[in-house]
Amino acid sequence: MPELGVNIDHVATVRQARRTYEPDPVWAASLAELGGADGITVHLREDRRHIQDRDVRLLRETVSVKLNLELSCAEEIVGIACATRPDQATLVPERREEVTTEGGLDVVRHRDAVARAIERMRQAGIYVSLFLDPDPEQLAAAAALGAQAVELHTGQYALAKGREQAAELAKLAAAGEQIRALGLGLHAGHGLNYHNVGPIARIAGMHELNIGHAIISRAIFIGLERAVREMKELIQ
Ligand code: PXP
Repeated sequence: MPELGVNIDHVATVRQARRTYEPDPVWAASLAELGGADGITVHLREDRRHIQDRDVRLLRETVSVKLNLELSCAEEIVGIACATRPDQATLVPERREEVTTEGGLDVVRHRDAVARAIERMRQAGIYVSLFLDPDPEQLAAAAALGAQAVELHTGQYALAKGREQAAELAKLAAAGEQIRALGLGLHAGHGLNYHNVGPIARIAGMHELNIGHAIISRAIFIGLERAVREMKELIQ
């Protein structure tokens, strides 16, 4: 059964809208744990638009499940990861003008920068995952560069409907097989919600799902602990 990593960036987004102290993502992490989260995921962006350095430090001290830090290959942020030592780091592409992460990392094009970031973080004892599109060339490069897991980008699947969605699902399932054959951990995320998570959770060997927007949105109405529990039940 896949583990559920709850992405709490949106809690920090609300706090940063007023540059105040609330709502605190550290509180959110505790409630997500109470709801059954297997992991807490945060993205420390170079522009610090939501999660702050202080959050990462405090979460490292307080989260008792897996802490997964999403980050770009920027030297400064990789340095913070190495100093803070989350259990897991997921390398993602980052562009300042984007609303959220818009696609997988291009590890073929950015081979050297990705290899350097992986090497530094693995030296620090961090388990390293790469956020990738279900593209065979990218997946093969991930293994060659020393990554330990791949998080498949499910954004296209989430946006598609009907037949197109079935085709995206088939692509993800084939990519999942390739990832497992390469000996890498299989993760997935982006755009997953209470309606579309089932088929992704059923992909053979799926180990971890990272979900943020849908859970935090539901939490506004029913509370975070319950929103996490309902997602966990669906995944099970
Ligand atoms: N996985 C990665 C690598 C992401 O960048 C994000 C978005 O921050 C997520 C998962 C979660 O996506 P969503 O908020 O759409 O559930």
